[in-house]
Amino acid sequence: MVKKELSTKQWNTSFERRIVYNQYFPYKTSQLYCENVPVEKIAIDIGTPFYLYSAGALRKQIITYQKAFSTVPHIIAYAMKANSSLTVLHLLGKEGAGVDIVSGGELYLALKAGISPEKIVIAGVGKTKEEMCEALQAGILLFNVESEQELIALDAAAKSCGKKASVALRVNPDVDPKTHPYISTGLKKSKFGIAHSSVLPLYKLAGRLNHINVTGVHSHIGSQLTTVKPFIAAIKKMSELIQSDGFDIRYWNIGGGLGVQYDQETPPNPTELAKNILPILKASGCSIIMEPGRSIVANAGILVTRVIYTKTTDAKKFIIVDAAMNDLIRPSLYEAYHHILPVAKNERRHEVVDVVGPICESGDFLAQDRTMPEVMPDELLAIMSAGAYGLAMASNYNARPRVPEILVDDEQYYIIRVRETREDLTRGEKIPMFLE
Ligand code: LLP
Repeated sequence: MVKKELSTKQWNTSFERRIVYNQYFPYKTSQLYCENVPVEKIAIDIGTPFYLYSAGALRKQIITYQKAFSTVPHIIAYAMKANSSLTVLHLLGKEGAGVDIVSGGELYLALKAGISPEKIVIAGVGKTKEEMCEALQAGILLFNVESEQELIALDAAAKSCGKKASVALRVNPDVDPKTHPYISTGLKKSKFGIAHSSVLPLYKLAGRLNHINVTGVHSHIGSQLTTVKPFIAAIKKMSELIQSDGFDIRYWNIGGGLGVQYDQETPPNPTELAKNILPILKASGCSIIMEPGRSIVANAGILVTRVIYTKTTDAKKFIIVDAAMNDLIRPSLYEAYHHILPVAKNERRHEVVDVVGPICESGDFLAQDRTMPEVMPDELLAIMSAGAYGLAMASNYNARPRVPEILVDDEQYYIIRVRETREDLTRGEKIPMFLE
């Protein structure tokens, strides 16, 4: 997550590694492709900027997860906050995925995308009564409950609609995931989950509530985890809890958080993660749920942008592109690194530049002090690893319509979300009569 400066040599190394690594976005005769479609062709057809996803990459990741955990009963509940495009959800659902949702809106999208309610789990510290009732009516598998008040509210909601809620208590295992503080969730000081020491008393309380059935436990310690160590630490703590006397559960939700390669990171893949934790998971006798988001979609997507101008000041050279922080906020918000590739590969000299958008904020950048080959106005750039928390976190800041999403499957591309229009910018607004 930390911003890095690369020397030309390092840049070349990571550039080459990236090509080898991401087989779904290869260069063919110096042109960047998504599977078998030239990125430039799509840019000419539909204009820039746009998000571009590879169906093959999405399928490969979900299948890798399914295979890695095939020796235990399991549900891969894709954390749809990472990318909630209906087509992405539908594609993953067809491969057997369930989803992890965090709002009534996500429930709506998941059902619309055809995800079976028996494979839906809901998380979040602030579920409203309305959201609880919607999820109960839909018949979802599990509520990950994060506090005593929420448990009591869920009991009341279930009573009012004549249902019994299946609950997994979300435990805060107090394990440091060693990631960016904004995306650490399993530390004592974070707002998430129930303190380890309060879980058994809450379980007992739940036993006295008529419309609650505690059938599981859940933990999620953070996102973009690049080693298995914190996973193992959390799993061990949870395993001890599961073995406690009188604690009888069927489902163990181990959360999400597996990191991806944005730059020089070498995170474990799902198979390596599984190898490390499966013995403990199996010994529990539980059905396993997991909630990966980023590791399924991040490297299946890129953001394609066109250079508008270049500008050299006394201090820096800026590459001004047509995508901005409203399209991809990760660099501004977390100082996140996203590799940037020219869509037409060239042999030009390398220089150190800031890649910035047109938004009126100094925080509007996609890369800072980045060493990359010289680029010219009108050329196309690909912001790599943008499939997760990209469009999902986009906004209309500076009255910029949100960009379209394109899915490539082999030699075909499909527009799966159209570009927003000027009319979309005023949808729902109304100037009060008294001003007329
Ligand atoms: N389960 C729970 C309860 C979560 O809170 C999250 C992510 C996940 C699963 C999925 O985690 P993943 O596998 O994607 O790491 N916007 C940030 C990431 C925020 C993650 C929030 N929770 C970013 O762009 O890095």
